[in-house]
Amino acid sequence: MTTEVVPSNEIAKVAAERIADALKAAISASGSASLALAGGTTPRAAYEALANIWGIDWSKVSVYFGDERAVPPTHPDSNFAMAQAALFSKVKLPEANIHRIEAENPDQEAAARAYEALLPARISVLVLGIGEDGHTASLFPGSPALNERTRKVLPVIGPKPPPQRLSITPPVIEAAAVCIVLATGAGKAEPVRRALKDALDIHTTPSGLARNGLWLLDPAAAALLV
Ligand code: 6PG
Repeated sequence: MTTEVVPSNEIAKVAAERIADALKAAISASGSASLALAGGTTPRAAYEALANIWGIDWSKVSVYFGDERAVPPTHPDSNFAMAQAALFSKVKLPEANIHRIEAENPDQEAAARAYEALLPARISVLVLGIGEDGHTASLFPGSPALNERTRKVLPVIGPKPPPQRLSITPPVIEAAAVCIVLATGAGKAEPVRRALKDALDIHTTPSGLARNGLWLLDPAAAALLV
């Protein structure tokens, strides 16, 4: 596990640089890269900064999502809508390279199965956020999805509105080549401490699944790591 503590006003820029570096390395090594995005509010500024970084051959990047809310892709709660506005609309990323989770499908099981069939065996760069309860993607504390070892995507019900979501499962997080976790604000300090310092207990702190990744924290989110 690596942690970088970055001033709040620089974390989006640094996150964009770390994501860009990992994408370029994957493209250089294998000719292509897969990028899975987190939702929520924290990563938006990082995606906007990523859109301004030169030297990424977006035609060689396939984009996925770590989770999605069961809303239409134009809904204000849609993670796809956020990424579309912050990033996809600003870079030369072929539409065919964008793999949206069709979480608005009333048949959530069918949507989960369709999406897991699209996911690569190993995501090159997985971006995650964490919640104040320690969740990541849409894997919330106590969720039965935390016991999943075969399926890659499951329908879940979470306490963070909107409740109905589709989420990647623990094996997908564990298999990622590079995992970049973004956390800012004092409200994340306790879950960050639990995820990085306590004995691993993913049922209490699902974000511990990413403990071997690169954690980009502002001083407030890192405050309990000392
Ligand atoms: C989602 C996210 C979720 C998010 C955390 C942090 O769809 O809600 O994927 O895992 O990353 O809840 O959200 P904030 O960045 O808004 O604090």
